[in-house]
Amino acid sequence: MAIIMKDIKKQYPGTHQPVMEHFNLTIQEGSFTVLLGPSGCGKTTVLRMIAGLEDVTAGSIYIDDKNITNLDPGERNIAMVFQNYAIYPHMTVRGNIEFGLKNYKISKSEIAERVNYVLSMCDLSEYADRKPNQLSGGQRQRVALARAISKSPKAFLMDEPLSNLDAKLRNQMRSEMIQLYNQLGCTFVYVTHDQTEAMTMGTDIVVMYNGKIQQHGSPEDIYNNPANLFVAQFIGNPGMNTLQFSNGGFVGFRPRDARFGESESGLNIKGNVLTCEFLGYDYNITVNTGMGNVVIRTKDRKAVGDQVSIHADQKDLFYFDKNQNRSTEIQTGEVVKVFHVDA
Ligand SMILES: Nc1ncnc2c1ncn2[C@@H]1O[C@H](COP(=O)(O)OP(=O)(O)OP(=O)(O)O)[C@@H](O)[C@H]1O
Ligand SMILES: [Mg+2]
Repeated sequence: MAIIMKDIKKQYPGTHQPVMEHFNLTIQEGSFTVLLGPSGCGKTTVLRMIAGLEDVTAGSIYIDDKNITNLDPGERNIAMVFQNYAIYPHMTVRGNIEFGLKNYKISKSEIAERVNYVLSMCDLSEYADRKPNQLSGGQRQRVALARAISKSPKAFLMDEPLSNLDAKLRNQMRSEMIQLYNQLGCTFVYVTHDQTEAMTMGTDIVVMYNGKIQQHGSPEDIYNNPANLFVAQFIGNPGMNTLQFSNGGFVGFRPRDARFGESESGLNIKGNVLTCEFLGYDYNITVNTGMGNVVIRTKDRKAVGDQVSIHADQKDLFYFDKNQNRSTEIQTGEVVKVFHVDA
């Protein structure tokens, strides 16, 4: 189902500032939509308002054509999986899933059938009779997922469900989550501040900052066509390098698109190496340019203190105006003495 938020304002009681105002978001039916942004930008608030766990100060929320703004959470046909997957420690895996279904008016045999189905889907059949403390973190996370799936919701809301897992398990769960999404074919709304998660899992990414949507698009769109300076710097590992012109505009380039050396055209800048981090395949090299630090991702090793020239091709440069919005044109006439950019 599609989820539509129209002109939402949210202000928590006892606070002076709304978290968001005039917030509009359409989540397409069947999409895996990721809400991505730094801590405090309002991701959890958005999710909880969709789930009905938090009321809106103004505005409306629709599921398909139905206004659900004032419906109770239980009436919304949505399942939510939280960061601290609340599973009951005294119940077995099977018990935990059954418990979630006890208010559903379905027969005992149907419950058993459904529980067996989600157990096998989540690869938990052999752990059905264990208690949570006899499971690994990833298995516990799968119990929480299985419980959510057993309710056959039309949409899943997930708030950083993998953040408690170690890096290896997170990778594994990420791919399991993608398979689950492909299998279930329903709408997923997934909150994270981890852009690798966002890029690998999302069909749609909503980049948020300060209660505002900065950009809503496919992962490729957001990486290749950042709408503003914030998105450019936030997306990418590491994010885009940006240097400010004296008129307030910016030029940017991706760490992977830069190399050591000089050329007739494009961007050339000099500096000295601050750090050189080995990443396994290549290096992240941070260079102090006198206009701020830039990072280059390259296989070309350098020593700390080396004097280097950095070059990026014209086709790899991005421009932003003084309001930090993407601009297709270079700010003419602006040639800053420490580097030159040929338009
Ligand atoms: N119950 C509350 N009362 C008052 N302020 C709140 C409440 N819950 C959240 N806030 C504030 O609302 C803003 C958005 O919080 P929210 O939890 O939605 O952020 P988030 O993007 O999920 O951050 P994180 O990545 O840290 O989880 C924050 O400034 C937060 O302090
Ligand atoms: Mg949060």
